Amino acid sequence: MLRVLSIASEAFPLIKTGGLADVAGALPLALPREGVEMRTLLPGYPSVKAKLEKAEAIHAYPALMGGPARVLAAHAAGLDLFVLDAPHLYDRPGNPYLGPDGRDWPDNAFRFAALARVGADLAKGLAPAYAADVVHAHDWQAALAPVYLHYDGTPRPATVLTIHNMAFQGHYYGDLLGPLGLPAAAMSLDGVEYFSGIGFLKGGIRLADKITTVSPTYAREILTPEFGMALDGLLRSRAADVEGIVNGIDDEVWDPETDPTLARPFSALKLQDRDANRQALQEKFGIAATEAGPLFGVVSRLTSQKGLDLLLACLPGLVARGGQLALLGTGEPALEQGFRDMEGAYPDHVGCIIGYDERLAHLIQAGVDFLVVPSRFEPCGLTQLYALRYGAAPLVARVGGLADTVIDANEAALSAGVATGLQFYPPDIGALDYAISRAFDLNADPAIMRRLRLNGMRADVSWRTPARRYAALYARLRTPA
Ligand code: ADP
Ligand code: GLC
Repeated sequence: MLRVLSIASEAFPLIKTGGLADVAGALPLALPREGVEMRTLLPGYPSVKAKLEKAEAIHAYPALMGGPARVLAAHAAGLDLFVLDAPHLYDRPGNPYLGPDGRDWPDNAFRFAALARVGADLAKGLAPAYAADVVHAHDWQAALAPVYLHYDGTPRPATVLTIHNMAFQGHYYGDLLGPLGLPAAAMSLDGVEYFSGIGFLKGGIRLADKITTVSPTYAREILTPEFGMALDGLLRSRAADVEGIVNGIDDEVWDPETDPTLARPFSALKLQDRDANRQALQEKFGIAATEAGPLFGVVSRLTSQKGLDLLLACLPGLVARGGQLALLGTGEPALEQGFRDMEGAYPDHVGCIIGYDERLAHLIQAGVDFLVVPSRFEPCGLTQLYALRYGAAPLVARVGGLADTVIDANEAALSAGVATGLQFYPPDIGALDYAISRAFDLNADPAIMRRLRLNGMRADVSWRTPARRYAALYARLRTPA
């Protein structure tokens, strides 16, 4: 077995703010059949510690970034874990990154540098009888692991950094270099230096052996100034080591045949049972119980990345044509208010629930006709994959992973019988509005809608193929050519 240490700041079902958690929680379960044993290092947030089975302290740090800390070996939710129990860093309730004022915790540099430092130590044999062949760091929160390993010197395991979102990079003042335990040499173009400060993601991109991101299209996009968020030059210099592997989904957690959160389970063979979920959804969102127009759905963070301001602008037109919207989301106050206002203006047609609700996210996928994802950029996107599996046609911007996972219902795809949803480009109001009008046209033809739903439900969106790709990558890294 090839041994990989995954380092992540969240993992479903222990702690989750977005898709990273789904990936970090599901990939390890798909790897054993590919000959890979993955252990995951997580921060010891209260919600993580509360769910541990058989936790055992395997190492104590007298002082780690400002306080004593322990490493626990444990299991939870089918995952083999190391948990960094450092109360001075993680013993805070709620969102893992933000304080009660909605801003980043002021010591986030230390909170996540500590995670990376311990990951690097574990990979090199801190725990009795454990060493990793490959370290797999996720996003800026873990991106210093390859950096520490680089400056620690050889021997060291191979490293891979996965970028889930270029928008979050972890930038800090340069005077933290010493306190973070980085050598003076790291303050250079070839290290973590970024506009005179320290860039966690920047350092990881510079020093990891391999860089992956979560779709082939995003892997190309981030090499351009439009999507590279000022790191495109560095990424271009490493283009030969950048690869895109599209995410899968946990098809046991997301299985419409067995999903306990649904009003009625259904399958491709019993598609008519899906209707009960549409009705339950209309009731839950307080919108009219009609079968007339298409029911659109959204499950999303409400941020500018997700392009939901575009949908807001298209809503009056959508409603005028007899469509409905069920939206579940939380985020920027202006967007939350915008959707609340629309609900006030069109109570029979627009329902929004502002908040985070994992169960309701399932019911939306099971009840809507179209799941709308109008993102300006989207590294992979998972909600459109859940939609496919649940018989909702994704209506998506043709960017990043959305471009790679949805087959647009154009004439060629329709006549070949392979379409699964709708794509539009560019992500602007005009193009979204036109895509919505296409959705009305499709919805008017039950045979086509049935075809779209069945195609989606039969698509393989599981981790099987991606897990094979990661396993092949780890194997190449362990034995460099
Ligand atoms: P991102 O990670 O950028 O937010 P993804 O599509 O990759 O986007 O993943 C989002 C994940 O978070 C999905 O599992 C989605 O169902 C979930 N999610 C987002 N917002 C909510 C919400 N308000 N309530 C429940 N689940 C949500
Ligand atoms: C990020 C991206 C999202 C992706 C997820 C998991 O949150 O925004 O597109 O699906 O990571 O890789």
